[in-house]
Amino acid sequence: LFGPAISQEQASYPSRQIKLIVPFAKGGPTDVVARIVSAEMAKTLGQPISIDNIVGAGGTAATLRVAQAAPDGYTLIVGHMGTHAAAAALYPKLGYHPDTDFAPVALVTRMPVLLLARREFPAANFGEFVAYVRRHPDNVNLAHAGVGSVSYASCMLLNYLIGINPTGVPFNGTGPAMDALVAGQVDFMCDQIVNAVLPLRTEVIKAYAIASPERDAVVPAVPTSAEAGLPGFQVEAWNAIFAPKGTPQEIVANLNAAVVRALDQPEVRAPLTALGGIVPTRGQRTPEALAALVRSDLQKWGEVLKRQVP
Ligand code: MLT
Repeated sequence: LFGPAISQEQASYPSRQIKLIVPFAKGGPTDVVARIVSAEMAKTLGQPISIDNIVGAGGTAATLRVAQAAPDGYTLIVGHMGTHAAAAALYPKLGYHPDTDFAPVALVTRMPVLLLARREFPAANFGEFVAYVRRHPDNVNLAHAGVGSVSYASCMLLNYLIGINPTGVPFNGTGPAMDALVAGQVDFMCDQIVNAVLPLRTEVIKAYAIASPERDAVVPAVPTSAEAGLPGFQVEAWNAIFAPKGTPQEIVANLNAAVVRALDQPEVRAPLTALGGIVPTRGQRTPEALAALVRSDLQKWGEVLKRQVP
């Protein structure tokens, strides 16, 4: 007679607009991925999804805000390998626990990372890049999206491996950082492929290596880090949707199903893959798989970022 206790609110979810917070500037990798996927999710859910870019502190300011938001399915965040892994190793007082303060919804993309430089940077390849930055340690700067971001953590790994300590120039996202790289105002950056494909194609920047085991079909001329001589430079970035901890199971399942379906639509797959994003397999799209990824990346980046260039 009485079914499982599902409140009116849960049963009719979603009954109004959902807010998806992007913790970085417009036009950057997180924003681009969020817009592609949320447009398709909105069709399934039957309600609009608005994107709010709330920047600051390498994405951790907005992430904290979502950790503390009402767990009702109407405030979500696109987190990533930075906000939900690397940041925990870089902020002694982060204010949230990536693994316990969220209800993981679904992985949205996996994302290779490239070492990029301004077009006129005086190094033709990775070997020359390393030689140059070692010779000019005080005269080379590195753009990133704030402490804890993917671009920051990836280049911390690079810096450690080649023993350099360049000046960092923080931006509110790699969207604006890329504008500065294109304008020649900063020297290099470690960025997600989605942000790099178009400026590489028009040759307004250059790439020295992709931090992956294999070359990428979208940027086939870019050598792998192993080919370039630095096999330890490996980064597997990713983007995923999270709700606040305590979000009802039915709502998480609803949102997860919308992501799973979106990732099978050509309207999502075509633009994502054209920009080098890797669509997760069905098995990688479950909340449990995302929870496991967060746990393993917390561990992995905790180890990586403990090491410092003396
Ligand atoms: C962005 O969208 O700006 C990026 O995801 C920033 C980063 O983490 O490097």
